[in-house]
Amino acid sequence: MNNPKSRPEIITGDLSIENYDTIYLGFPIWWGTAPKVVHTFLEKYDFSGKKIVIFATSGSSGLGNTVNTLKQSVSKTTTIVEGDVLNSNPSVEELKQWVKKF
Ligand SMILES: Cc1cc2nc3c(=O)[nH]c(=O)nc-3n(C[C@H](O)[C@H](O)[C@H](O)COP(=O)(O)O)c2cc1C
Repeated sequence: MNNPKSRPEIITGDLSIENYDTIYLGFPIWWGTAPKVVHTFLEKYDFSGKKIVIFATSGSSGLGNTVNTLKQSVSKTTTIVEGDVLNSNPSVEELKQWVKKF
């Protein structure tokens, strides 16, 4: 996490990103931001023209500057939207309502 260039490897497959307009991307907050493997993911696929809504779990931190940090790993035509920290163990019904906000 101290190395800005760190990109832990992931196994990639066909996620058919082209079939989706909005993608919800969740991760745990590590040292106030997204784990570096999330950058790996964003750089492995083409999210041009897509909207990515980020959400997280954490010990207590908020999303902080995570949107701007992740923007470094997508093209200028990708919109990254600040979702929420979902630490309250929301129900499926609450999550269904939550996703409608975006
Ligand atoms: C390396 C590391 C760094 C973390 N940094 C933070 C942090 O800066 N702020 C915070 O509130 N929680 C932090 N946490 C706690 C995680 O966000 C929390 O454990 C996680 O969201 C819970 O999901 P999990 O059960 O999948 O780990 C950190 C956890 C780890 C392992």
